[in-house]
Amino acid sequence: MNTPLKKFPIHLQSAQNRILLKGGKVVNHDRMFDADVYIEDGYIKQLGKDLVIPGGTRTIDATGKMVMPGGIDTHTHMELPFGGTVAVDDFYHGTRAALAGGTTMIMDFVLDGKGVLPLDAYNKWMDKAGAKVCCDFSFHMGLTWWNDKVKEELPILCKEKGINSFKVFMAYKDLFMLRDDEILDVLKTCKSLGAIVQVHAENGDVIDENCKKLLALGITGPEGHLMARPEEVEEEATHRAIMLADQVNCPLYVVHVMCKGAADAVRRARMRGAVVFGEPIAASLGTDGTHYFNKCWRHAAGHVMAPPLKDATTPEYLLNLLANGDLECTGTDNCTFNADQKALGKDDFTKIPNGVNGVEDRMSVIWEKGVHSGKMDPCRYVAVTSTNAAKIFNIYPRKGHIAVGSDADVLVWDPTATRTISAATHHQKVDFNIFEGMECHGVPLIVISQGRVVLEDGQLHATRGVGRFIPTPCYSQYVYNRIQTRDVSRAPQKVDREAYDGPVIEIKMED
Ligand code: URP
Ligand code: ZN
Ligand code: ZN
Ligand code: ZN
Repeated sequence: MNTPLKKFPIHLQSAQNRILLKGGKVVNHDRMFDADVYIEDGYIKQLGKDLVIPGGTRTIDATGKMVMPGGIDTHTHMELPFGGTVAVDDFYHGTRAALAGGTTMIMDFVLDGKGVLPLDAYNKWMDKAGAKVCCDFSFHMGLTWWNDKVKEELPILCKEKGINSFKVFMAYKDLFMLRDDEILDVLKTCKSLGAIVQVHAENGDVIDENCKKLLALGITGPEGHLMARPEEVEEEATHRAIMLADQVNCPLYVVHVMCKGAADAVRRARMRGAVVFGEPIAASLGTDGTHYFNKCWRHAAGHVMAPPLKDATTPEYLLNLLANGDLECTGTDNCTFNADQKALGKDDFTKIPNGVNGVEDRMSVIWEKGVHSGKMDPCRYVAVTSTNAAKIFNIYPRKGHIAVGSDADVLVWDPTATRTISAATHHQKVDFNIFEGMECHGVPLIVISQGRVVLEDGQLHATRGVGRFIPTPCYSQYVYNRIQTRDVSRAPQKVDREAYDGPVIEIKMED
């Protein structure tokens, strides 16, 4: 028994640290079942019926509600420096908003410019994030340039710094873009380390050419952003990235799948057995590119991100593939800029800082479009909002699962409650919301992060800087089991045959 030294604070703390979620339906990726969940000191300690729990435990009635793992947003850019400015949702506001929407972990991209070595960039991002994050987080590493010095740091990042995923860019010419031979070397290097390569798949040379052409025609508005990046620009690069990865049997994760052609490329590759994962985002599932033609410049510019949103039939197409298992998990690419920042490109769409919101709304948008529509059941919803991400990035079942021993990142979810998304009421710092006016069924009533209630009765109690860095170890079995088997099963076999012993012509040297 603990002997409280100071009765009052200890009592307060224990009430906070011990929570019983009673009477709810637990939803995991593989099954739903009626069970109570007992949480203590940040972990799920017991799961089942008629639990014997210590006194002083706070009981929360979850009758008629679902109890599920907190969301994992696989793709964020908090306070990203981009296009001469910095994304307005920083690690504090961004993760606070994440919690408000039921996301309890973010995976953010370390993304610095050419010339900055990955370890220096990592330290910079750790300093920025560590002081501010309100929920747990991990990092993917953006490789914006490639040479032997960069390459030498990858084993350190993998073995000592908790990084197992590296993003390459086929777009952003002269900024982040790598050539195919460099990407091949990244793929080989990551494969040798048991890491995952992520790709921003768009043909940067074609985009560069198209932008010049459109500007010369006097098309300077946000519609030019979409016109410069037609569907085939994303589809071709996705196909090429998959082909490159397959040559060296390296797992590939296609970030922000924004179009049908890219999703189909992923689907076809998976049908052939390739280890490829596709990540649609809240934006590509919840809205579309018709907004680029809106007469209000700010409205149109508010949707500018890369790859761009596509036609009005795309969200449902992507949602269908996500529901049936062709696409794997969901992020947001949350990277937000206010009107005055977007206005850097008021006379030239190529200067509009790229990025949209999503971190707060992803869970509700996917419930609305996926579960409320009848396309996916709650188990599939959990799979695509947390479990699959945890498996790919090798933090399952610590994250993405309701089980004894898992982290207490837990939601009490009301599938029947509704809320209407608006920039006027969201917790993000950005002054615009791409889902403005969307009514969503599916609302987090209670959000528990690290075993603490951070949202209840609509009140947010997020704390700056309490989020922990969650290392993502290499050789995720969910990813590498098949890679390793395929290395053996697809190894080139030499044909044993009798040597040719007939005549060979002589090649005469010309003088
Ligand atoms: O528009 C976007 N996606 N901005 C963030 C950078 C990236 O490509 O993910
Ligand atoms: Zn990208
Ligand atoms: Zn408008
Ligand atoms: Zn991104």
